[in-house]
Amino acid sequence: MGVLPLADGPVLRDLADARGITYGTAVTASKLTGTYGELAGAQFGSVTPGNEMKWASVEPTRGSYSWSGADRVVDFAAAHGQKVRGHTLVWHSQLPSWLTGGSFPPGELRTLMTDHIAVEAGRYKGRVDHWDVVNEPMNEDGSLRRSLWYEQLGESYLADAFRAARAADPDAKLYVNDYNTDGLGAKSDGLYNLVKRLLAQGVPIDGVGFQAHLIVGQVPSTLEANLKRFADLGVDVAITELDIRMALPATDAKLAQQKSDFTKVTTACLAVARCVGVTVWGFTDSDSWIPSTFPGQGAATPYDENFVPKPAHTGIAEALGWTGGGDPPPGSSCSVTYTVQNEWGNGFTAALTVRNTGTVPLDGWTATWSYGAGQQVTQAWNATVTQAATRVTAVNLAYNGTIPAGGSVNFGLNGSRSGTNPPPTGLLCTTGS
Ligand code: XIL
Repeated sequence: MGVLPLADGPVLRDLADARGITYGTAVTASKLTGTYGELAGAQFGSVTPGNEMKWASVEPTRGSYSWSGADRVVDFAAAHGQKVRGHTLVWHSQLPSWLTGGSFPPGELRTLMTDHIAVEAGRYKGRVDHWDVVNEPMNEDGSLRRSLWYEQLGESYLADAFRAARAADPDAKLYVNDYNTDGLGAKSDGLYNLVKRLLAQGVPIDGVGFQAHLIVGQVPSTLEANLKRFADLGVDVAITELDIRMALPATDAKLAQQKSDFTKVTTACLAVARCVGVTVWGFTDSDSWIPSTFPGQGAATPYDENFVPKPAHTGIAEALGWTGGGDPPPGSSCSVTYTVQNEWGNGFTAALTVRNTGTVPLDGWTATWSYGAGQQVTQAWNATVTQAATRVTAVNLAYNGTIPAGGSVNFGLNGSRSGTNPPPTGLLCTTGS
């Protein structure tokens, strides 16, 4: 197979793993191929369907379900050893019109809600790690939003939703999720008090998600303190929809500010023991909701429209402890190729070549990839090779870490397989020790 045109540099999912948190991204199911799919699989430890699990997507007509988009994301995650954040079961927005226009009496509406949760969370039982059970229940002043649910059912809709979700998938972590609750303030106080009330009633709520749709230069200074106070209630916390928008066009100064902002948010999560991770709401500017929702604004994600990592990507990596020395030295890059040399019954041998494609000597290299058909590395030579689920990481040994410009190093492995042996996806080479 050929060389994949992916940028060198730090791999966020591996760095995050090493720090005990998960770095995830929202994705669009229909785009999960090519470079978009490779980066989503290689760089992130979890995926969230941006729209595909919302009520209007899964049940556009009453009783007639459409799971293809949601299935695609869940299958992608399984193939890449990723977690799934399910988003979202009960929300006021992106509801099907049969539901919003249905004028259902409260009793029927409550059953519609709990049945919906049973069907959707039941379908993905054991495959979704976290559910955003209720999304955006708060008003800006800290009172409960007058949604369809609240208007008809009162505050008890929340308890019922969480109980239905627990019954449908006892192992999933159940979250309430909201925006403009990232720092201390009236809305966040309202959410805090809501969570406290629910916990006091024995409602099965495991976590609070903070969307963090932020503006460049305006990361709340109280983010960490706020995450901490929720965690002190005895729940997990997570940043669930991070993006940091700017007025277009992007300039070097704004992108530098954005880098520092992504660093701050990531650092705040790392500082709170119960913060389980950060999810960005789209990893590339070509797949962000910002330009259409906030006209004139954009460039809100860690990669530009052409999948080139922005300073924000480096900022996240640095917050996660990346010691690649800031940006890789100018002229430093590598590529990796993977070739199956031999196959037998239930095994195979693969040969890999790491090439220094830069103009300066390369000091240390890491190759990573994902197996999509259950292949398992059993033995390796000329590299230290480890595998976690489908994800494989190969690091140079002491004697072959340095590669002169234009030079290459070979290593290899034996693997087991139970059927076909398709080439791996997300093949990436990273420079630096
Ligand atoms: C957004 C999607 O990204 C868009 O594609 C869609 O048109 C509207 O919804 N808070 C949420 C997300 O919880 O579900 C929203 O996602 C963004 C704001």
